[in-house]
Amino acid sequence: MKIILCGAKGQLGTECNGLLSQNHSVRALGSGELDIRDGKAVFAAVEDINPDVIINCAAFTRVDACETERESAYALNVKGPENLARAAKERDALLIHISSDYVFDGKKEVPVPYLESDPTGPVSFYGRTKWEGEEAVRNECPRHMIVRTAWLYGERGGNFLKTMLRLATGRPDQPIRVVNDQYGSPTWARRLAMQIGALIMSGKGGTYHATSEGWCTWYELAVFFLETMGIRREVLPISTNEYPTAARRPKNSILENSRLKEEGINVMVDWREDVMEFSRRAGKLLILEAQGGR
Ligand SMILES: NC(=O)c1ccc[n+]([C@@H]2O[C@H](COP(=O)([O-])OP(=O)(O)OC[C@H]3O[C@@H](n4cnc5c(N)ncnc54)[C@H](OP(=O)(O)O)[C@@H]3O)[C@@H](O)[C@H]2O)c1
Repeated sequence: MKIILCGAKGQLGTECNGLLSQNHSVRALGSGELDIRDGKAVFAAVEDINPDVIINCAAFTRVDACETERESAYALNVKGPENLARAAKERDALLIHISSDYVFDGKKEVPVPYLESDPTGPVSFYGRTKWEGEEAVRNECPRHMIVRTAWLYGERGGNFLKTMLRLATGRPDQPIRVVNDQYGSPTWARRLAMQIGALIMSGKGGTYHATSEGWCTWYELAVFFLETMGIRREVLPISTNEYPTAARRPKNSILENSRLKEEGINVMVDWREDVMEFSRRAGKLLILEAQGGR
């Protein structure tokens, strides 16, 4: 299939490019090659390339910055997908748009997971823009897949695991304090790219949850990850109240991949398995990066 990949240089975009290029013809476009906020440029690219599938990995992902940089967040997370949806409809292409667990309010009792059919209720501006981006795609493009994921990590870009490594290899006199009352499913960008590959071949559509199996808190994730890296360092569990941030986060953002399972195409595995594999493959480079970054 001919695929346009937007946001191709981000954490997920890089993995999608590497993986999907093995079986498809992928035009990987970073923000410098295609600004998805620019409707005319989006139409021109889609007209020119005439893809079967458009994948949107581009987004304003800095959750706290979304609270203060609202116009930029809206333009990228709502207008961008709307432009892609209109262009995809015009060419009868399938649009795969990536969304987030933060569209939910997190009030379900832990560990009851959110299903695709559950009502949304974002508690942050980021979550609101991700929800409105989803709605734009639903309204504008009949052939779509909305893929909600969570707590992404990968080799490219910044993420929670890299932050933990930087702290852990940094000043030993400073304890690492990590929130222990938010629950979710850490998801490896490479595994999600595999899932997107399976979705492309499924010929289906609609909204999907795609996160690792199982769940944990940020604290539990930090402890497990550092263990897999062979790093001994004290990590202190703290509450959300002890770590104030500009944006509120849902307490429970555990997602169930119910539609993937119903359709027999769930490739996601337990989060611990993927964190171990990630550390095994990327560990040395991650440590060099963490040390170099200081
Ligand atoms: N990260 C998470 O924990 C998480 C959790 C749940 C859901 N998600 C969703 O998963 C998707 C992928 O996230 P990610 O972590 O891979 O994001 P990321 O690493 O922040 O990558 C986002 C990409 O968007 C590109 N971009 C920025 N402005 C653009 C524009 N105007 N036009 C085109 N591209 C633009 C960026 O390019 P430049 O670098 O050139 O600016 C960057 O490569 C997003 O939809 C996100 O909302 C992420």
